[in-house]
Parts: sequence; structure tokens; C-alpha cells
Amino acid sequence: MDCMNKKICMIGFGEMGKRHAKDMDEFSEGSIEVAGVFDPDDRSYEIGCEWTGKRPRRFDTIKSMIDTISPDGVIIASPNSLHLSCLREFNGLNIPIILEKPLDTDMAKVVEIVRFVENYQAPVMVHHVMRYSPIVIKAKELLDAGELGELCSFVMVQNGGGGMFHNFRRTFKTGGGQLLEKATHDFDVLLFLAGAYPRRVAAICKRQYYGGIKPDTLRCRECNENQTCPHVVIKPSSANDTVSRNDLCVFSREIDIFDNETCVIELDNGIFGTYSECFFSNAPFTRRYEFSGKEGFLSIDFSAGTLLLKSIKRGIQTFEFDYNQRIHYNGAPGVTRHFYDLMSNHNLKVHSPVKDAFIAELISFAAYKANSEKRFVDIAELVTPDLKKTLA
Ligand SMILES: NC(=O)c1ccc[n+]([C@@H]2O[C@H](COP(=O)([O-])OP(=O)(O)OC[C@H]3O[C@@H](n4cnc5c(N)ncnc54)[C@H](O)[C@@H]3O)[C@@H](O)[C@H]2O)c1
Repeated sequence: MDCMNKKICMIGFGEMGKRHAKDMDEFSEGSIEVAGVFDPDDRSYEIGCEWTGKRPRRFDTIKSMIDTISPDGVIIASPNSLHLSCLREFNGLNIPIILEKPLDTDMAKVVEIVRFVENYQAPVMVHHVMRYSPIVIKAKELLDAGELGELCSFVMVQNGGGGMFHNFRRTFKTGGGQLLEKATHDFDVLLFLAGAYPRRVAAICKRQYYGGIKPDTLRCRECNENQTCPHVVIKPSSANDTVSRNDLCVFSREIDIFDNETCVIELDNGIFGTYSECFFSNAPFTRRYEFSGKEGFLSIDFSAGTLLLKSIKRGIQTFEFDYNQRIHYNGAPGVTRHFYDLMSNHNLKVHSPVKDAFIAELISFAAYKANSEKRFVDIAELVTPDLKKTLA
């Protein structure tokens, strides 16, 4: 990185916002300064300051922050359902943006984001951080080098706990469902690695464990079962935080998203496979992909940090990745470098563009439609005429 300092602003200073702030500072070696924060929640702001060891100026509105700071870049890390409204604040401006995934929570808003970005002057990169992680970069290199011969199929799986069912992610309205909120990463990486677009999707999605009859407002700290419940959250968020609560009861009535989901996906080059996720099996968090080709096999075990290749050309090879105790498989240094470059040169090609995120999210929307209509859904069914060129 050159030594030209950049000033950025944060919109949303919660779990992800504070991590972005720290990563930008650390991985740019101080060249990127967080100069302003907009977050309506007092406690998020205080925790973020404590966590990052810095106290950026806080603003009451996004507009006053942008007018005062004139930032070189902005990161939008608000809850999912607020991404479009945050992005619209930049109408007519020329400021590079990192937009958190998923683009938003429903197809109509996601399409509005695609349209907005098509007409926006500055680059917008989606925080599809896995694209920037060394393990994905290596997998892409091996696949592009043809180590597997003709790629034929894939199996992708991730299992984890119920964290999402404590917060805004637990309803379709505020989270979008886990095939959108969580699997957007996986679908994005799938399309990136396979170098293809999705063609059709089938899915079975069920809610088998979370949800129930507890009040929607019940929070762990005030629950009379909090001594025995295996899902109790020890560090609740503030009482006045009404948007991004993280200690809501996982057995509440309002929970309407699924907790066990499987899709069958066919890509436009004929490759097909499955993606499955389950959030209650008590498994340690796992994320694993396997790709089969006519001349080889590639297994990517994200949780173990291991990539295993078995190919006719190379025999068996394993590659180990040390994430340096970083989340997101240590993708943040690459994200920081790319954002710095985009702030320095607005004409640079975006590595994780909104268009690609949109196409990945079409798999999610198609999967939910397929699940409710009990049939395969063609991706083309979802795309409005003016967006067809996006898929061309
Ligand atoms: N790329 C990744 O791997 C990754 C990982 C985690 C979260 N995320 C995404 O980051 C976003 C934030 O998630 P999180 O886990 O930090 O949630 P969070 O609830 O911890 O933080 C969200 C913050 O936004 C604030 N907020 C509420 N209303 C706002 C508004 N109108 N404008 C700006 N901020 C507002 C909240 O007060 C809170 O501090 C989500 O879109 C999520 O999907 C991405």
C-alpha cells in the first residue's frame, strides 16, 4: 500500500462494523483511518470504541457524517434489511463503498440495489470476504489450472449453532433466511470457483428445532429458564437496542426462518451438486466443499484449514492454511488491500461486485420458491426483463 492516507466512515458499528474498523486500521498499517461512525445504538458505539481502541466521531445521521468528513470510502454494516436504505443515502455521490452481504432481505430490494449500483459512479464491493481468503484463492488456482479435468459435481455442507436465532436474522423480514443470509457466501464461492452461472434449483427447507411459543420480546437475561437453557446468551445487548438484539429467545413465536435446508443446484455449464446447512445438530461449526472432476477431486475443509487435491496429474497433495486466528478464513487483509486500491482508483475492476452477489442470491430466492412450490425453479424465471442483461 502507498502512504496516502484514506478516511472512511462506518454505517453500523456492531459485531461486523467494529471488525471492519479494526481490520482496515491494522491491515493498512494505519493508512486507512475510521473518521466517522453512524450507529443509532449507544452501546454498540461504546463497545466498538472499546474493542478497536479508538474513538471515531459519532454522527446522528449518515448525511451529516458524509458532509462533515468527505470520506474516501464507506462501509455499510447495518442489519440486512437496512442495506438498501443506507445505500440510497449515497445517491449522486462518488464514494467507494463496501456493502455487507446479503444485498438485502427480499428480491425486490435486492433488485433495487442492483439498479442503484448500475447507475452509481464509484465502485461498490460486496463483503464476500471468502473470495479474498488464501484457501479459496488456492482452490481457484487449482481448478483454473484444470487439475480436476472437466468439473462435474460438488457437495457443500455447513453446520453450526443457533446464534442467528437470537437476533435480527431469525425472521425472513429482517434476515432473509439462512440460504440468503449465510449461504450467500457459499453460493458466491461456488460460482466463483466453477466460473459459471446458476441454471435451476430445487430445495427442501424445514424448521425442525428453533421457534415455538415464547414471547417475541423475551430475552435471555429476563428468562426464568436461563440457568438451564443450553442456548442462553451470557452477554446480552443493551435494553434500548431494538434493532440488532442478540439475546432474544430462540424458541420465540416470531421465528419463521428454516433451520435445516438442502438445495440441489445445476449450473449453466452442466455442473450440479448439493448445498446443505443445519443449525441445531450440535456439531462443531463445519464448512466443507468437495468438487469432483473427470481427472481429480478437491476437498476444501474450511474449518480445518485444509485443501486436499487428488488428481491424475499430481497424485495426492494437501495444502494447509493458518488463518492467524482470524475469522473468515483470514480474508480481511485481501479485502482491505482491495478497498484501498478502489479508493485510490475508482476505475479498478471490483473483485466481488454487486452483480456477482446478485447472481449468487438468485440461488437463494430460487431455492425458497422451489421449496414452497415443490419443484425445480429456473433462475431465469426470477429475472425481470431489464435485469436479463446482467445474466447474459
Ligand atoms: N461478510 C461477513 O462474513 C459477515 C459476517 C457477519 C455479519 N455480516 C453482515 O454485517 C451486517 C451487520 O451484522 P452484525 O453481525 O454486525 O450485526 P449487529 O447487530 O451486531 O450490528 C449491526 C449494527 O447496526 C446498527 N444499526 C441499527 N440500525 C441501523 C441503521 N439504520 N443504520 C446503521 N446502523 C444501524 C445496530 O445498532 C448495530 O450496532 C449484516 O448485514 C450481516 O449480514 C457479514
